[in-house]
Amino acid sequence: MTLDFLDTYFIGQSHLVLEQLDSTNGYLKACYDTTKLPEGFLVWALDQTAGRGQASNKWFSGEPNQNLAFSFLLNPKFLGANNSFKLNIAVSVGIINALKQQFPNLNFKIKWPNDVYIDEKKVGGILIENQITQSNLISSIVGIGLNVNTKLFPASLDRATSLCNEQNEVNLSTIEILINLLKHIESSYLQLRSGSDESIKRLYTQHLLYYQEAKNYKNTETEEQFRGQIMGVNETGELVLLVDDKLTYWTNKSLVFLFQNN
Ligand code: BTN
Repeated sequence: MTLDFLDTYFIGQSHLVLEQLDSTNGYLKACYDTTKLPEGFLVWALDQTAGRGQASNKWFSGEPNQNLAFSFLLNPKFLGANNSFKLNIAVSVGIINALKQQFPNLNFKIKWPNDVYIDEKKVGGILIENQITQSNLISSIVGIGLNVNTKLFPASLDRATSLCNEQNEVNLSTIEILINLLKHIESSYLQLRSGSDESIKRLYTQHLLYYQEAKNYKNTETEEQFRGQIMGVNETGELVLLVDDKLTYWTNKSLVFLFQNN
């Protein structure tokens, strides 16, 4: 696999494509710790054997060459640690823009904070690991996993799907999807870097799964179930839910979405 036809200024312009890795995020972090890497440096694994997800979850990467697992380095020093959620927003929106362009008939959503969904099924995930000193964001390793060609998922992943399944295709080109993703993520990141992130935030909010719909949630601290409406996210990335006419603010740990067929 070669990445000769990249349509980016810097993301992926230097890269490593490796047959097999445990985790692209882990590998890129190890490279970062020992070598000076250019911004945009990309690691793409054709077979990822121990993918990591958010909150210490495992990420199912499927069979070799079937799906996408890659990570790249960004240096969003312009953000400051307390604004790091803006990077999640920019990356999520870049992914949504790319996928919508390539698969216009599919209904892509962002399940807060940054899972990529098609309708109510998860097709991709993002793991951003930040290097922070004092209150400064020094660099970020952005890891993305996308289910492209897997047809059957382990029973435990009852909410997982792939582009292939949703598009009713036999096989999709991972490299074409990757090239398009990198282009759109970079464009969204450059918009953030130029300070005009209002439109990205708006797109993020509009694409939130269940935005402004009355749905059921669970407070993981009290185990209480309740009905609420997503109104957006605040500066620190907390989800803003309207519950009984009051705005309430939630961290990822404190809230669970209760899907209808759970
Ligand atoms: C999640 O949904 O919890 C986030 C999943 C992120 C998975 C990707 S695959 C490429 C990169 N390397 C990893 O080990 N994890 C991320």
